Amino acid sequence: MPVQYLQWLLYLQLLLYCAVLKAGKVPSIIVFGDSTVDAGNNDYILTLAKSNFKPYGRDLDGGKPTGRFCNGRLATDFISEAFGLPPLVPAYLDPAYNIQQFASGVCFASAATGYDNATANVLSVIPLWKQLEYFKEYVGKLKSFQGEAKAQETLINALYVMSLGTNDFIENYFTLPDGRSSQFTVPEYEDFLLALSEGFVRDIYQLGARKLDLTGLPPMGCLPLERVTNRAAPGDCNKEYNKVAREFDMKLLGLVHKLNAELDGMEIVYGNVYDLLDDVVRNPASYGFENAVTGCCGTGLFEVSYICNKKTPITCDDANRYVFWDALHPTERMNHLISNYLMNTTLYVFL
Ligand SMILES: *[C@@H]1O[C@H](CO)[C@@H](O)[C@H](O)[C@H]1NC(C)=O
Ligand SMILES: *[C@@H]1O[C@H](CO)[C@@H](O)[C@H](O)[C@H]1NC(C)=O
Repeated sequence: MPVQYLQWLLYLQLLLYCAVLKAGKVPSIIVFGDSTVDAGNNDYILTLAKSNFKPYGRDLDGGKPTGRFCNGRLATDFISEAFGLPPLVPAYLDPAYNIQQFASGVCFASAATGYDNATANVLSVIPLWKQLEYFKEYVGKLKSFQGEAKAQETLINALYVMSLGTNDFIENYFTLPDGRSSQFTVPEYEDFLLALSEGFVRDIYQLGARKLDLTGLPPMGCLPLERVTNRAAPGDCNKEYNKVAREFDMKLLGLVHKLNAELDGMEIVYGNVYDLLDDVVRNPASYGFENAVTGCCGTGLFEVSYICNKKTPITCDDANRYVFWDALHPTERMNHLISNYLMNTTLYVFL
């Protein structure tokens, strides 16, 4: 056998070995949060915050509405794929899946929820404490399925994603006059939410989490619905909301540093979606988008959830040209960009 051929074989074996090692590094993705990452849990609860009907999911395999607030996949679906895991992260409450599938990825998120219980109450969705309860139940099932030692290994090596907080401001604080805004100033409310975020991270750490993406807030004042309802300058981004998002994100980054220092073996990365979305909204053409102002569904000004349905007229033909799918949520293409950006900037450390 020629030496070169042998070398080639060895090289191939090495590649294969690396691929196997890599595939085992993050065996699962475990997701908590709101509609940015809800894969369909709200389909199984009584709430108005749903999207399990057309045209939602129209660009998903077979045009299937799953309860994702998108025309296609979410950023967490793309992240899962980037780690060599399944292309869709299944919703924990979806009876079509069982622990065998959940062992490589599970989503506990619920659209319209927040860090604050009061936010989840607005549309009767799954509060964060309840997502933790579901996670504990899942840990039990995983241990029965994989055995104690293997399950512990899965939980320690899994990638955890938290993506929430926008609703605490836009659905709750800035919208309900007699609620949190009458109890807290904005900075106080930020601190209140951060304390809840910290408590949650400590809880999942106790249960085994060691790799975490703590996602910050987007420039929430530039969501189509927030532009429309911007009284100071209708149609423009709400500058106040963006300022709050930035402020919150800076504090969240501080929390990430603090927890990384305090929690032994924990590695938290801060998922910066603000800068990417801010740049996309300012320079949509440089990302290949034609519209960064209105959503694809309907007029794109206010349609979201039940108001975006198959009878909604003038939904755009090609969602890929839009940053936003409905009045609050990114298109699949934007979600893919978010995933690439997070993979390139922070999540690569877990590859
Ligand atoms: C949220 O609700 C749960 C369940 O009732 C409760 O245990 C928790 O203390 C509440 N959190 C806050 C911050 O009020
Ligand atoms: C990030 O990663 C994707 C795919 O992994 C790549 O196509 C892209 O060019 C990278 N860079 C940026 C800035 O997103």
